Amino acid sequence: MVQVFRCKICGEAFVANHESTHCPFCGAPVKFLINAKEYKEPEVPELSEVSKKNLEFTYDLEINASKIYHCMRKKTKDEFLRGFMKAISKVELEHAEVVGKLINKDPSCEIPFDESLCTDDKLESLKKTEELETGAIEHYKKFLEQAVEPRVKEIFEALIAVEQDHLDLSKENL
Ligand SMILES: [Fe+2]
Ligand SMILES: [Fe+2]
Repeated sequence: MVQVFRCKICGEAFVANHESTHCPFCGAPVKFLINAKEYKEPEVPELSEVSKKNLEFTYDLEINASKIYHCMRKKTKDEFLRGFMKAISKVELEHAEVVGKLINKDPSCEIPFDESLCTDDKLESLKKTEELETGAIEHYKKFLEQAVEPRVKEIFEALIAVEQDHLDLSKENL
């Protein structure tokens, strides 16, 4: 039976059945999905200087990744890669939005197409994806350790899981 869910990470709502395993917007795993009737908007915490710096870094990293994946999506002639890049480009933009809420930044909904950011080569694109996701995971593991705010910890915990999924997918398809 379908019901309305909310994601505790990005706050988006969606209709799905019980077998839903990931948030369709930010990719957060099932443990972060709850019945919409139980959802409460998380409060924006007071941030430590370190978390503030780490979240600013994360925001830029997510926007950058989103732009590169968007470029790959536009340039590739491979239909699978087009779909994969379309999906993760949107997810990374959603991540920027999640993080932006804590540091008063809001990414534009339109991702500009900058064709200098990527090639149309499938193998190169997947290798670049692997590199970006590996870098993100390394940073976020460090940021998770440095975070003292429960909300910031929760966000980095979710982002690590999502980027790990992206990394696995890029490796599997190399
Ligand atoms: Fe991300
Ligand atoms: Fe990712």
